[in-house]
Amino acid sequence: MSAVDPQSRVLSGMRPTGRLHLGHYHGVLKNWIELQHEFDCFFCIADWHALTTHYEDTHNLEEHIYDMAIDWLAAGINPGSATLFIQSRVPEQAELHLLLSMITPLSWLERVPTYKDQQEKLREKDLSTYGFLGYPLLQTADILAYRAGQVPVGADQEAHVEITREIARRFNHVYGREPGFETHAEAAIGKMGKKAATLYRKLRRSYLEKGNEEALDTARALLKEQSNITLGDQERLFGYLEGTGKMILPEPQALLTSTPKVPGLDGQKMSKSYNNAIELRDTPDAVATKLKRMPTDPARCRRNDPGDPEKCPVWQLHKIYTDKERQQWVQQGCKSAGIGCLDCKRPLIDAVQAELDPIRIEAVELENNPDVVKSIIADGCEAARDEAQETLREVREAMGLDYR
Ligand code: TRP
Ligand code: SF4
Repeated sequence: MSAVDPQSRVLSGMRPTGRLHLGHYHGVLKNWIELQHEFDCFFCIADWHALTTHYEDTHNLEEHIYDMAIDWLAAGINPGSATLFIQSRVPEQAELHLLLSMITPLSWLERVPTYKDQQEKLREKDLSTYGFLGYPLLQTADILAYRAGQVPVGADQEAHVEITREIARRFNHVYGREPGFETHAEAAIGKMGKKAATLYRKLRRSYLEKGNEEALDTARALLKEQSNITLGDQERLFGYLEGTGKMILPEPQALLTSTPKVPGLDGQKMSKSYNNAIELRDTPDAVATKLKRMPTDPARCRRNDPGDPEKCPVWQLHKIYTDKERQQWVQQGCKSAGIGCLDCKRPLIDAVQAELDPIRIEAVELENNPDVVKSIIADGCEAARDEAQETLREVREAMGLDYR
């Protein structure tokens, strides 16, 4: 059994939609870049997830995968600190998805909000497929295959982490009940030091009888410190704490981060499909042109008409990119018609260019060395597969599928 500490392991993913834009950068990548220093991070290029909605058109999938990988790397995801891999290169994830499908009630999948929402939104596509219904379960398999305890996602994905927790709990409940589980657990308690054993019993009672969550956390920390019991015993005791069976698949948590909403060039949310995005690899000219053409408060028809920043998407970008002093200048100048919209945009354009410059340089380097990118991803896939294989060994064993 490998010694994975789920609390220190992060998994997240993105569907490969090709080149990324500022919305991805501020909404996801900056957060990942920070996490990679603190956690054992796995970042998944979720190509099977892309198929759930784009199954008809797969010819540019490979291009999209490598374009996204280049943008991840150029933005600062460091393959020395994080494992970058392609979902479909880890067939164990498909196996886990299938095995979990056996214990997943249809109603759990049907009530995930994104199921109906997306069907409504993407009306032009036929999303009444088995695969699309299984989207959250596929994500569950992504997370559980790596026994990740922390899943950084936006609020829209919270329900997917929640269903992951429910499925992990159900799996542990159904398959964590090895014969004589209680006896094994009691014996394992006996192997801890006397003081630790007494404390464990007390904390367990406090949680089971009074629902004291703090006691649960303390007991978990206590178990982590025990060096004289085997990992198998440790997992038993984790499970015994909650009154369930052995904990085979840990329940993850969503790591919600407050990220700024990046407005697109038309003021709606920035998105490739709305054609309103600034891509990380846009040339300086393209960035400047796009921002110069960006609509502003419609009240400012003429230079002398005062405006209201709250009605202007350019102001939303200032809030992300410029400092307090500059923002005051915008507020004052806009409302008094002291500045024109082009004046207002100039410092913003400079700030966006300064942020993108190093990313563009790195991206060119990677574009010119596709073999480097491929080998980073190949290494990541191999490392990811090792982990998933380890998990699947345990899963098969727990399910009684480890025959030869
Ligand atoms: N469903 C996620 C999205 O659309 C992408 C994703 C796939 C993911 N697998 C994941 C996110 C695992 C977190 C964990 O954004
Ligand atoms: Fe928008 Fe700035 Fe023009 Fe005001 S001055 S409308 S904030 S671009």
